[in-house]
Amino acid sequence: MRLCDKEVTPIGLGTWGMGGGFWTPDYSNDEAYVEAIRYAYERGLRLFDTAEMYGGGHTEELVGRALRGVQDEVLIISKVWPNHLRHDDLIRSAINSRARLGIKAIDLYLIHWPSTEVPIIESIRAMEELIERGVIRCMGVSNFDVRLLEEAMAAARKYEVVADEVEYSIYHREPERDLIPFARRNNVTIIAYSPLGKGSVARDRRLVEIAGRYGATPVQVALSYLKRSSIPIPKASRREHIDEIAGALRLELSDDDYEAIRKGL
Ligand SMILES: NC(=O)c1ccc[n+]([C@@H]2O[C@H](COP(=O)([O-])OP(=O)(O)OC[C@H]3O[C@@H](n4cnc5c(N)ncnc54)[C@H](OP(=O)(O)O)[C@@H]3O)[C@@H](O)[C@H]2O)c1
Repeated sequence: MRLCDKEVTPIGLGTWGMGGGFWTPDYSNDEAYVEAIRYAYERGLRLFDTAEMYGGGHTEELVGRALRGVQDEVLIISKVWPNHLRHDDLIRSAINSRARLGIKAIDLYLIHWPSTEVPIIESIRAMEELIERGVIRCMGVSNFDVRLLEEAMAAARKYEVVADEVEYSIYHREPERDLIPFARRNNVTIIAYSPLGKGSVARDRRLVEIAGRYGATPVQVALSYLKRSSIPIPKASRREHIDEIAGALRLELSDDDYEAIRKGL
């Protein structure tokens, strides 16, 4: 599938927690995280999600290090935190993120959360300027409901809002009601965060029977379910977890099994 003029995989990798937490870097495990991200690339993943807030920017540095030399083959997403949504702040944030990632342009740049203080039009203008200047390649939003997404789309003059990154998992199905149908009609890609319910899916007995029919695991079934209408971005740092996620890239559920999950869970 294509996003921002690049071929991407239907599943990506999240990076929250790698290299620190909420605006706080942690340098103690850098090598392991760089290796994990690189391993995800080697196993075929081609979309990577990060943000300026993750580890106060350090996570972006790790993503950049891990993907050095292959940036043209992957799509890198970063996000601007709501305290930087004023025009000048947003421009500065994107330039700083690009530098930490060490890339020519951020493929997809998202407004991480909506703000009640800064008018959306101001942030969208700044985003469009960043595209014109070649700092980012395309723009989107995160945690926007249908009303806010419509507002962002209406504010865009020259470029499209191409994606909305929201929580979507078998435990959090709310996007299926309005957001996913709206996004589909308007060519907006839904990116599904926390798609494993922060790891709970692996212990979910309800998916075991379906998984058994495919010689797959509950994690793979859950990701396959989500990838029908979104790009899930599970975070994984352990090799066996990354293997399991990569194993879901080509898993297609039958319509019956898809419906059974949709109706039954
Ligand atoms: N836009 C937003 O506001 C927003 C909010 C939250 C998250 N996100 C993005 O979405 C990404 C994913 O969400 P998330 O990190 O909250 O949760 P998640 O992907 O649902 O779960 C991550 C957890 O699942 C574990 N895991 C991964 N693969 C597994 C497997 N095969 N079996 C068992 N456990 C497995 C990971 O362990 P290991 O690390 O030990 O492998 C990690 O503890 C984030 O990293 C971030 O990039 C965005």
